[in-house]
Amino acid sequence: MKIISRSLAETEKFAQDFVAKLIPKKDEATLVALSGELGSGKTTFVQCVARTLGVQENITSPTFVIMKKFSIFNFQFSNLYHLDAYRLERGEELAKLGLEEIVAEPRNLIFLEWPENVKNVLPKDIPKISFEFIDENTRKIVL
Ligand SMILES: Nc1ncnc2c1ncn2[C@@H]1O[C@H](COP(=O)(O)OP(=O)(O)O)[C@@H](O)[C@H]1O
Ligand SMILES: [Mg+2]
Repeated sequence: MKIISRSLAETEKFAQDFVAKLIPKKDEATLVALSGELGSGKTTFVQCVARTLGVQENITSPTFVIMKKFSIFNFQFSNLYHLDAYRLERGEELAKLGLEEIVAEPRNLIFLEWPENVKNVLPKDIPKISFEFIDENTRKIVL
């Protein structure tokens, strides 16, 4: 599926639709890879997802902390994880932060920016959303 988002509101709508269709797995977390260059809208998408899930905290980019966890109430998931591997060179660095345990919990919903940097420690065949800068207000989003 491919969409052109011409505004933050359209990206927010895409995020709402995406969340509405999510079905938790029985035996592991839902992990979604977010690909695309800097400024293509990966973090913005996670902010939209977080709002949809009722997260009150302000979501900033986890580039420097690598991983952020938010509690979700009254939903199919208990925790939203926002991971950013931009500064990582090896998947082992993510493994050290407990990736395996987080991925083993079905009530975790995980979004990972820069999956390319850590692909050696990721499960096979995880769904990916790709973001592409078109112009100032326009982004291509491919699911
Ligand atoms: N249609 C759009 N959808 C998402 N973000 C957009 C859109 N138009 C402009 N933007 C802006 O693009 C920037 C994307 O930045 P960010 O989400 O941090 O990118 P990334 O995490 O991919 O590096 C934000 O400043 C956001 O406001
Ligand atoms: Mg980002």
